[in-house]
Amino acid sequence: MKILVINGPNINMLGIREPGIYGTQDYMSLRKLIEDTGVECDINVEEYQSNHEGDIVDKIQHAYGRVDGIVINPAAYTHTSVAILDALKAVGIPTVEVHISNVSAREDFRQISYVRQYCVKTISGLGIEGYRQAILYLKDLIEFKRSK
Ligand code: DQA
Repeated sequence: MKILVINGPNINMLGIREPGIYGTQDYMSLRKLIEDTGVECDINVEEYQSNHEGDIVDKIQHAYGRVDGIVINPAAYTHTSVAILDALKAVGIPTVEVHISNVSAREDFRQISYVRQYCVKTISGLGIEGYRQAILYLKDLIEFKRSK
């Protein structure tokens, strides 16, 4: 089983950017948590981060036929990107949306999520632990679908 974790713009600035909102754990800590979760679950987990919308679309397209599940934090593109939503719909891979902060308690412009209409679940406000929850959820979902 392979799960791809995609992080959008400024997630590489974790620990530096707005620690009151995103916490003090840095991007390397997030990468380690993702890697450790893969080991814990005995699955192949790849993490990818980009600040560029088109690169994220390319990465999603490349996942077609290669990846069983996607965890995505599109970051600011959550609220703007029809292109990322369309790419997810195109490849048809089960996807969980993650946000480090509790977006529902933030500004109005963060209340729109384009990817949410495609995602099987949204995890928001759990800090970087949300990625672990998302991977565990996807693993169970993929195993359940395979068993049918
Ligand atoms: C975020 C929330 C977004 O609104 C914001 O633009 C981000 C990070 C989060 O993880 O909480 O960059 O997706």
